[in-house]
Amino acid sequence: MERDIKEILLTEEQIQNRIEELGKILTEEYKDKNPLVVGVLKGVVVFYADMIRHIKAPCQLDFMWISSYAGTNSSGNMVVRQDVSADVKGRHVLILEDIFDTGNSLNFTYQHLLSKGAASVKICTLLDKPERRKEGITLQCDYVGFTIPNEFVVGYGLDFNEKYRNLPYVGILKPEAYQK
Ligand code: IMP
Ligand code: MG
Repeated sequence: MERDIKEILLTEEQIQNRIEELGKILTEEYKDKNPLVVGVLKGVVVFYADMIRHIKAPCQLDFMWISSYAGTNSSGNMVVRQDVSADVKGRHVLILEDIFDTGNSLNFTYQHLLSKGAASVKICTLLDKPERRKEGITLQCDYVGFTIPNEFVVGYGLDFNEKYRNLPYVGILKPEAYQK
């Protein structure tokens, strides 16, 4: 697994330090709001587990599973495969996501939760790849861990063909690993 990585982009230490910083900001923002913290499955699970432990305030955990109709590339035709279990009406929602890429997934998730009557919806993404943003997506993330170049990355929850999610860092795949 490790030999398929060309370069480590973000080390475990860099990720943990940034999560600690974000935790302080989110704790201040949400200390009296009992937010519903919604993770978008599956890529977010590793970040989610680390991030919520640095939000030092009461919060409720929830998850959504969405996918596009066809293929692995998010096409914009998204469907909810598993919805949040909580009643969102009147709640302050914090979406946690692994990566803000074309923006299709987050745009869909954001609109979906807003339409359920949330009092507020904010987004915290570990990674932001602004060069990949699809034209017409005006959504912005409120909290960003790292802005990264236009490279396909794996690890720390992110996968290629369901592989590499359990690497503890974020790395760039070697081109030959795509052919496997
Ligand atoms: P979107 O293109 O912003 O809708 O992102 C859709 C999903 O594609 C993300 O939630 C990730 O699961 C996945 N994705 C986007 N870029 C990468 C990447 O560089 N590595 C692994 N997964 C990615
Ligand atoms: Mg994802």
